[in-house]
Amino acid sequence: MNDSSNPNLEQAKQEGKYIRTIRSFVKREGRLTKGQAAAIEKCWPTMGLEHKNGMLDLKDVFGNDNDIVLEIGFGMGKSLVEMAKNAPELNFIGIEVHRPGVGACLMDADEAGITNLRVFEHDAIEVLADCIADESLSKLQLFFPDPWHKKRHHKRRIVQPEFAQKLRSKLKIGGVFHMATDWENYAEHMLEVMQVAEGYKNQSETNDYVPRPDSRPLTKFEQRGHRLGHGVWDLMFERTK
Ligand SMILES: C[S@@+](CC[C@H](N)C(=O)[O-])C[C@H]1O[C@@H](n2cnc3c(N)ncnc32)[C@H](O)[C@@H]1O
Repeated sequence: MNDSSNPNLEQAKQEGKYIRTIRSFVKREGRLTKGQAAAIEKCWPTMGLEHKNGMLDLKDVFGNDNDIVLEIGFGMGKSLVEMAKNAPELNFIGIEVHRPGVGACLMDADEAGITNLRVFEHDAIEVLADCIADESLSKLQLFFPDPWHKKRHHKRRIVQPEFAQKLRSKLKIGGVFHMATDWENYAEHMLEVMQVAEGYKNQSETNDYVPRPDSRPLTKFEQRGHRLGHGVWDLMFERTK
């Protein structure tokens, strides 16, 4: 529904009232461990990026022209740090709203001694709109996004037609949007949204899911899931125009 088809929202906007849009997350005020707090203090000056500083000059941020991989909602950052460690020829940007997750990620990144990772502690939707130039990313990653199990909460799922198009504008032509989920109903929803999304081509030979590529590390959580017989679905779509 657009705003003009919602008279209450339109009227509220005209009256200058604050509009709370639907978000894909609920901000949890988890406490930072001492290690996480220390890692933020130590690493933020070199690895932290601020939404309020606006559009990024990516060459300036990383000091090189390497391809950029951006991950939305990296959680505790385990797989993101591992990927950055395994691929020093790429630059990584992670976005997460949960502060302890940001702290945990910086702790691991510091320990690994990597220099090709930067992070935002902010809503990814706003970061993409305000800080990331169009056609600047080689890859966008969304791993195990909050599934919002209940039907009445499905509108909070981050993967929606409008989201797919916002992401497409940030990818280079030939760039890839990679999603993974362990919730079958969300996998089906992702597939439905992406199959009709303009300007994308499914990289799956069977026109649905792809096997986990080596680039996405297997997390402990996922290994446990495999042992219990749970499924994980990977989806990869390439920007074609
Ligand atoms: C279920 S967790 C998965 C975390 C991680 N990707 C993993 O595989 O373990 C989803 C994460 O996405 C984050 N998230 C949800 N919506 C977000 C948004 N709009 N911007 C940034 N982070 C978001 C949540 O805070 C949460 O940490």
